[in-house]
Amino acid sequence: MADRGEIRILGIETSCDETAAAVVARTPEGFGRILANVVRSQLAEHAVFGGVVPEIAARAHVAILDQLIEAAMAEAQLDWSGLDAVAVTAGPGLIGGLMVGLVTAKAIALARGLPLVAVNHLEAHALTPGLTEARRPPYLLLLISGGHTQTLVVKDVGAYTRLGTTVDDALGEAFDKTAKLLGLGYPGGAAVERWAAKGDPERFALPRPMMGREEPHFSFSGLKTAVRHVAKKLEPLSDRDICDLCASFQAAVVESLRDRVDRAMQLFLPMLSDLSAGASDAHPRRPALVVAGGVAANAVLRRHLQDLTKERGFELSIPPAHLCTDNAAMIAWAGAERLVRGLRDPLDTPARARWPLDPAAPPAIGAGVKA
Ligand code: KG4
Ligand code: ZN
Repeated sequence: MADRGEIRILGIETSCDETAAAVVARTPEGFGRILANVVRSQLAEHAVFGGVVPEIAARAHVAILDQLIEAAMAEAQLDWSGLDAVAVTAGPGLIGGLMVGLVTAKAIALARGLPLVAVNHLEAHALTPGLTEARRPPYLLLLISGGHTQTLVVKDVGAYTRLGTTVDDALGEAFDKTAKLLGLGYPGGAAVERWAAKGDPERFALPRPMMGREEPHFSFSGLKTAVRHVAKKLEPLSDRDICDLCASFQAAVVESLRDRVDRAMQLFLPMLSDLSAGASDAHPRRPALVVAGGVAANAVLRRHLQDLTKERGFELSIPPAHLCTDNAAMIAWAGAERLVRGLRDPLDTPARARWPLDPAAPPAIGAGVKA
């Protein structure tokens, strides 16, 4: 164990199209510090195909991962003897990429006699506020990325209740498909936001999926189809049409999301009083909404979530952008949180393409593979 009882963990992330390695320290009091955080995006390799190609992703991880780990160790100024464990994403994600990360982590663990911690990628997103602002559960998490759209109650490390999930596309995917349809490139979330800034959000009346539904689930594929119909009718599209379509799409997304998160917040509050029962109320805390995932970069969405949380008396916490998107610091941190609780994994731990954080959650009606 390193100085002052701190533990130091190497984290490895290869579940999608970012190859990442990081070293994170955790004090016995539970404070985290990033010693190195290296990410290499494969965007350029996938952009020509308009989406992530699993086989290309796996090969690109193989080509670069060793160098990234070396770079992270050098930046952290550590040699192998300075590490206490190796944490690696074991799922959910693209199986080829996951296997690259896992095999590498297992090899290091075996060669150096270090414990292996197999981390759920979603749990790593969920626990990131512990690293960035020492936030402790319970809190409500909104995870909005290219692959996931969920609201989760983070009750404790390892204890999660899923509230809402998408019944079709993930939110980032809906942005990306809309961008592709309008010829704005891949991934297109940021481009849609840029074009929307110059557009009229009221020109096209697009559906607000799931608005007012009792269950807090999400849906975005109908909205994307509605955009396609409008675009077809308008063809050829002028720049003004594209701006107005992006603005109308974004307005519909934001309104739907706001309603869905509001519903999740209503469901979370009674759970919170149960979770806090018995805890000292010397410092009563406001309920908190934490947002993670690449779509959290969207400024219009952030503004609406700020208004909503203020209205409902919630704190809003959004980790810095580079820790909201995929990275290995969050994997190392989740690994550290597990390790200090005595959790570690055997060297035959498999990669898992699917790995729900809350296995007891009933599938959302109509949900496809993204649930
Ligand atoms: O979390 P992330 O970096 O990667 C994974 O999906 O794992 O999220 C990427 C997603 C993409 O779908 C991208 O289009 C979307 O986040 N995104 C945005 C914005 N910036 C990134 N969506 C809307 N507005 C943005 N400004
Ligand atoms: Zn992610």
